[in-house]
Amino acid sequence: MRLYGFVFLIVSIEAKHRTKYCDVVSTDPTKHCYVKEILTSIAHSPNQLSVDRTTNTLYFSFDFGQGEYVPAILNIESKNISVLKGVKDAFAIANDPTTGEMYFGGSHGIYKYNAPNRSLQRLNINNLDIWWLFVKKRIYFIKFPSLSAFYYENKTIRSVPELKKDIVHQFVMDKEDNIFFINGTGLFGIKHDDNKPVLLRDHPRFLGIATDMNGYVHVCSEDGIFIVTKVIQKVKKVINVQGVLGITFDSANNIIYSDSHEIIRLVPMARDNYYIQHDHRYDKD
Ligand SMILES: *[C@@H]1O[C@H](CO)[C@@H](O)[C@H](O)[C@H]1NC(C)=O
Ligand SMILES: *[C@@H]1O[C@H](CO)[C@@H](O)[C@H](O)[C@H]1NC(C)=O
Ligand SMILES: *[C@@H]1O[C@H](CO)[C@@H](O)[C@H](O)[C@H]1NC(C)=O
Ligand SMILES: *[C@@H]1O[C@H](CO)[C@@H](O)[C@H](O)[C@H]1NC(C)=O
Repeated sequence: MRLYGFVFLIVSIEAKHRTKYCDVVSTDPTKHCYVKEILTSIAHSPNQLSVDRTTNTLYFSFDFGQGEYVPAILNIESKNISVLKGVKDAFAIANDPTTGEMYFGGSHGIYKYNAPNRSLQRLNINNLDIWWLFVKKRIYFIKFPSLSAFYYENKTIRSVPELKKDIVHQFVMDKEDNIFFINGTGLFGIKHDDNKPVLLRDHPRFLGIATDMNGYVHVCSEDGIFIVTKVIQKVKKVINVQGVLGITFDSANNIIYSDSHEIIRLVPMARDNYYIQHDHRYDKD
């Protein structure tokens, strides 16, 4: 009787822990299962997201009404959300990982935001319409409507030599300063100290690009999230989720992505803690 009770206790503890179903089964063997955590639901979702990893705070811009895009600040742990006033139509967002400072770019130029001080400073460059921002030692940006890449230094702007001839929708740099960019043709890589873009993959259409905490380049499309593997420079799908518009990574290197109506964090689960739901779509007949 006593033994039976003991076994029952173990079984009920087991069942209690295995209460979560796998929302997304990954092809990455070290992270087999993800649970989707909805950070916020939003009508006109952003394509550009960025995390200040020093405080684990997510920044994104959203349609505040009448087509005006304003930045929102979301504390990832508390889910507290607030709107940042003073930056209009700034839907390009980037974080400087060395200082934690955020940068916003839009039709009125580039703004630097210092979160502890809650101060906003506009960089003094006129007639600058920003499409994309990326910060690594320098402030890099893509101008609209030409979609050409520049950087800001000593109060002047210069074109990025490696990208001089390219139409660029978004770009990032990895740890070795290799450049990766997406445009209407596909995903391109440019090796450091070279300026010849190499087409890495031309399908599906890539909508967003981001580096994770280890400098690995990820791209997203309507049908999933892909990683650019270092060794062989291949582009491999790692997560099968639909309608991904933009991606970023939190301070624990978890993927955060937006689709047309939500911003979602993918939290990896230990293998023992979940059930895999059988998906009949993959059954062979
Ligand atoms: C949420 O953030 C706002 C703005 O930063 C702050 O005033 C408010 O106290 C916060 N609320 C909670 C519950 O933390
Ligand atoms: C934040 O504010 C303090 C006090 O005004 C100032 O000394 C400091 O330089 C500010 N930091 C930044 C990064 O602007
Ligand atoms: C930027 O300006 C400083 C001071 O005028 C100068 O020493 C430095 O060489 C300049 N850097 C570049 C890249 O032009
Ligand atoms: C994308 O960039 C490549 C490399 O510069 C260029 O050949 C191609 O025409 C661009 N695609 C579009 C649609 O602009």
